[in-house]
Amino acid sequence: MARYSGCVEESAPIMHMQPHILSSFAAEWETNMRLRMLLHSSPCSLVVTDALELDHPIIYVNSIFEEVTGYKAEEILGRNCRFLQKRGLFAQRRHPLVDASTVSEIKRCIREGIVFQGELLNFRKDGTPLRNKLCLTPVLDDNGTITHVIGMQLFAEANIDLGPSYSLAQKDQDTASAYWTNGICKAYSEVQEVEASASSCGFLQLSDEVISYNILALVTPSDVSSLGLVCRRLNRLTKNDDIWKSVCENAWGREATETLEAGAGGRRLEWSRLARELTTLEAVTWRKWKVGGAVEPFRCNFSTCAVGNKLVLFGGEGVNMQPMDDTFVLDLDVPHPEWTRIDVRSPPPGRWGHSLSCLNGSWVVVFGGERRDRLFNDVFVMDLNEQPPSWREIRGAAPPLPRVWHSACTLEGTKLVISGGSGVSGVLLSDIYILDVSIGKPIWQEIQVSWSPPSRLGHTLTVYGGQKLLMFGGLAKSGSNRFRSSDAFTIDLSERQPKWKYLVGSSRPGSLDMPPPPRLDHVAITLTCGRVLIFGGSMAGSDSTSEIFVVDPAAENPAWRMVNAAGEQPKYAWGRGTCVIGATKAIVLGGQAGEEWVLNELYSLSLANKVDQLG
Ligand SMILES: Cc1cc2nc3c(=O)[nH]c(=O)nc-3n(C[C@H](O)[C@H](O)[C@H](O)COP(=O)(O)O)c2cc1C
Repeated sequence: MARYSGCVEESAPIMHMQPHILSSFAAEWETNMRLRMLLHSSPCSLVVTDALELDHPIIYVNSIFEEVTGYKAEEILGRNCRFLQKRGLFAQRRHPLVDASTVSEIKRCIREGIVFQGELLNFRKDGTPLRNKLCLTPVLDDNGTITHVIGMQLFAEANIDLGPSYSLAQKDQDTASAYWTNGICKAYSEVQEVEASASSCGFLQLSDEVISYNILALVTPSDVSSLGLVCRRLNRLTKNDDIWKSVCENAWGREATETLEAGAGGRRLEWSRLARELTTLEAVTWRKWKVGGAVEPFRCNFSTCAVGNKLVLFGGEGVNMQPMDDTFVLDLDVPHPEWTRIDVRSPPPGRWGHSLSCLNGSWVVVFGGERRDRLFNDVFVMDLNEQPPSWREIRGAAPPLPRVWHSACTLEGTKLVISGGSGVSGVLLSDIYILDVSIGKPIWQEIQVSWSPPSRLGHTLTVYGGQKLLMFGGLAKSGSNRFRSSDAFTIDLSERQPKWKYLVGSSRPGSLDMPPPPRLDHVAITLTCGRVLIFGGSMAGSDSTSEIFVVDPAAENPAWRMVNAAGEQPKYAWGRGTCVIGATKAIVLGGQAGEEWVLNELYSLSLANKVDQLG
């Protein structure tokens, strides 16, 4: 049992709640619902942290906390509350006026599982000081284990003159963007110049070369920008684009930076700017394009993929469910791109609902799909660099069951990964298979797992961090029904016994996650830095399909957040009608027309400005 001592009486109630979480699943769900209702109806500022995780990440904040502090839930979920003790977003340390003995007392109370009550100085996101009368109350389960801590804050203005704040709190992305701008760097470095003179700091007695190549080039992009704020000299050194290239290579890997360089089509990239834009996502922009040519006869449910700067479209469902077997290419490298039907020998049998993936740099690979009377599990490959290109079947041994509306992705350039989909008689599948198309006689390899996420169709699979996969959404089987899902799962295929893990979502009883609305047939893109973007798809109700969400699956406590995008957005975006170019651009085909596929209209979503042009 817990002891209640120290700051309050031994018998202090724990917020009028039963101090235990019932052990059965249903009871846990009910308890959590009651907890949620209590939190939502409370008139004071509230925070709940997960006491079973390292460093007490926040799993809930109420709207009063958001209003008073200026921090939005999505910015702080997963973090420890101590950021309130730092003045502004980019302060590295607790402010000196925050009473260290009170902080130690908080730490002791949390460690010993006892209630804390006391007052300390905190700061809003914009740097203004606040007095915080804080009460921390542990929540225990049947065994006396502390599972959560509830923090109640009574905030009041603190009338202390601290001088101007260098916190750059505006809107989320404005903040991050302003942080990186030269103007701010200059203003800040002028203030700090005197303190950081070479004579008082051993680090600054090093030569420019040593600081640049032995220090700056080895740290993370955000550390380089922080160092650039310290003084004029470091600010000047962090302007060197070669240093930034090394920083990007360290952070994202050589392959990713080469892809970015190639994606720029020979235009010189400013690595500092690219690092900033891909980190903050401040430059995300939609643009609408018109292209010539025609994809005829009319069809829907085709699949597309990008091979370099060329888009390839294969198959689809024609009028009266006619299965299409033709191939079209749109070359975005020419001044006036046009859809062109290419005559390719021995095409795969006509179909829809298949996957189309790019492997080996220039290969287009078809897997699965259906036509009226048949489901497929065959694999066809076409090398777009071959003249003239032709389709050929790859007969992989031990193939997966035939299926449609499955998901597919490319691992390590040459491996096709497929998962789930709808099999014979509409049975949903939950398996996962790999085929290495680069070897002579490829064999399908099923990934054996002890547990799989519920079977589903219309979900996405994206690769991040080498051999890790993130699965999101789809129409998933739950009991005897099928529901749109907003859950994300991960699996690391480099492990000897890969295991699916629940990453983030809302279907787990008691979950307080705020994922994108449930959907299927959406678009998922892995960014260079390993985060995954989601938008589009089919959702229930009136949620906007063009809202973009991002999650970092490698984060200690992954949480979704929304990304603001400028420009004209498409009304619709479907996974199979969207091509991802490099890691910085997605092309959505026919984004205005919903089910009518107008393929002369394209929408491009650029994640960074420098690589924004189509042709
Ligand atoms: C539920 C909860 C709410 C908290 N709320 C606040 C808060 O509003 N302001 C604050 O300064 N610290 C708050 N803290 C305390 C810090 O998160 C942290 O525990 C404290 O600074 C001591 O740890 P440290 O010395 O490692 O920083 C809260 C802690 C918990 C568990």
